[in-house]
Amino acid sequence: MIDLHAHVLPGLDDGPRTIRDALALLRQMADQGITTVVATPHMRDGHYDVTVDQMHREVERVNRAAVDEEIPVTVLPGGEVALVPDVSEAIRCGTVPSLGALGRYVLIEMPFQNVPVGVRQVLFAVQLQGVTPVLAHPERSFPIQRVPSSIEPFVQAGALVQINAASLVGQGGKDAERTAVRLLERGLVHVVASDAHDAVERPCLLGAARDRLVRLVGAEEAYRLVRDRPLRILEGRPFKQPRPRGKALWWKRVLGN
Ligand SMILES: [Fe+2]
Repeated sequence: MIDLHAHVLPGLDDGPRTIRDALALLRQMADQGITTVVATPHMRDGHYDVTVDQMHREVERVNRAAVDEEIPVTVLPGGEVALVPDVSEAIRCGTVPSLGALGRYVLIEMPFQNVPVGVRQVLFAVQLQGVTPVLAHPERSFPIQRVPSSIEPFVQAGALVQINAASLVGQGGKDAERTAVRLLERGLVHVVASDAHDAVERPCLLGAARDRLVRLVGAEEAYRLVRDRPLRILEGRPFKQPRPRGKALWWKRVLGN
């Protein structure tokens, strides 16, 4: 599996505190069958002042330590970027990183409390730069929990959706779990990732989530969610998005396109 969203760099954000903690998390990931993980420290969220240079340095350090410890997981550069009004400007200036540092996909954190006014314009500005937004864990956002289909316009506009393994296996509360399943049923999820922060308090649950996915959507789609699409994103390739199955698309079904 490929984990597209995880906090594996020590001392940068609310992820592992030490290199030992980071390696414990990587070991846990390896045990679950993860071969590649994208380090996604919080960026510009008002709490952590992580720079792109710091992130790259820590990625190198953790990879070296993983090789020394014979942990078969490769860490790639990335970041979890707060949905701030000037996010497209930050992407253009290179002050926030893209997934795999390819400049094609950026992981953007959906706020928990509200979906800010003007989000669609902000995401559109990102897309105008040839960058596809990947929306991180919308199932944890209260407005999306109330109306899961409200994520659909973003997907229609070309954004991708990532949900958390923990939500799927019930570790993020009932509302997040119910919303995650709803979004999956409606074909509004493109990637499932761990969003792990350490091996103990917020561990990697991608292995358990994959097993639940197999039961929910079948083995083929499960592996698309945890392996094929993350790989495509990390190769910087575009892909045809699964078509949302929401009610709003009934006329498209009738027309057969
Ligand atoms: Fe995260």
